[in-house]
Amino acid sequence: MLRFRSSTIEIKTPAEIEAMRVVGRMAAETLELVDGILRPGITTEDINTFVHEDTIRRGAVPAPLNYKGFPKSVCTSVNNVVCHGIPGPLKLKDGDIINVDITHKYKGFHGDTSATFYIGEPSPDAIRVTEVARRSLELGIAQVKPGGRIGDIGAAIQEYAEAQGCSVVRDFVGHGIGRVFHCEPQVSHVGQYGRGPRMKPGMIFTIEPMINLGSYECEILDDDWTAVTRDGSLSAQFEHTILVTETGHEVLTARTKPLLLSERFPNFPQI
Ligand code: MF3
Ligand code: CO
Ligand code: CO
Repeated sequence: MLRFRSSTIEIKTPAEIEAMRVVGRMAAETLELVDGILRPGITTEDINTFVHEDTIRRGAVPAPLNYKGFPKSVCTSVNNVVCHGIPGPLKLKDGDIINVDITHKYKGFHGDTSATFYIGEPSPDAIRVTEVARRSLELGIAQVKPGGRIGDIGAAIQEYAEAQGCSVVRDFVGHGIGRVFHCEPQVSHVGQYGRGPRMKPGMIFTIEPMINLGSYECEILDDDWTAVTRDGSLSAQFEHTILVTETGHEVLTARTKPLLLSERFPNFPQI
């Protein structure tokens, strides 16, 4: 029943919203700093070390570490990896794309954000999947306003990404977030307008579309975490933590400057 479904979604108090602003900004700052260390030759373990230390330096805790047994402090998902890539000895090379997904926990509250970065010179395929994922997140966020439905978000993303010849991953969804890392609502990145729980001021959730160049089907590797595209095609993702406000929305993980390796890469074709 709809009344039951929306009532399970927490409405944050003004004090909780302020705490979510603080941790959201912190996670965004760490992600901005990651942009500065990415280059061919570094390993995903190096990224983990950097994120871990920068998080601790801020007095925050990297929420992924030991979350349901996840062994590292950040997810690093390269090329055909859809999400939940585990940092390790893999060296980044020219032409790779990598999603870095950061979640800080500070004073009990979580801020969750990710971006896909280009390493060196990107291929046309890498540009296409990454720019479609970036725009998908923007279009999803644009649907967030009081009175709208959670299904509006996935509908807008699916409509756009499929029109661009890409596919939208079904196996992983955005999520409510606060004191709990993952809670209601589930925010599917595919869907229908006018369906799902009604958005209300004070709700906070992530939108984090994973866009594949080929089919949307995923497989989990033997490490029980790494999700890859079944067909080996490239996958890209962007994520923000979003507050529903009285008039629309506020991006709690907004960046203050453009990412050098991604939003500022020269000569992007306009998609
Ligand atoms: N940050 C991921 C998300 O967007 C979750 C990572 S859980 C982990 O929801 F255990 F893999 F870190
Ligand atoms: Co998330
Ligand atoms: Co995340």
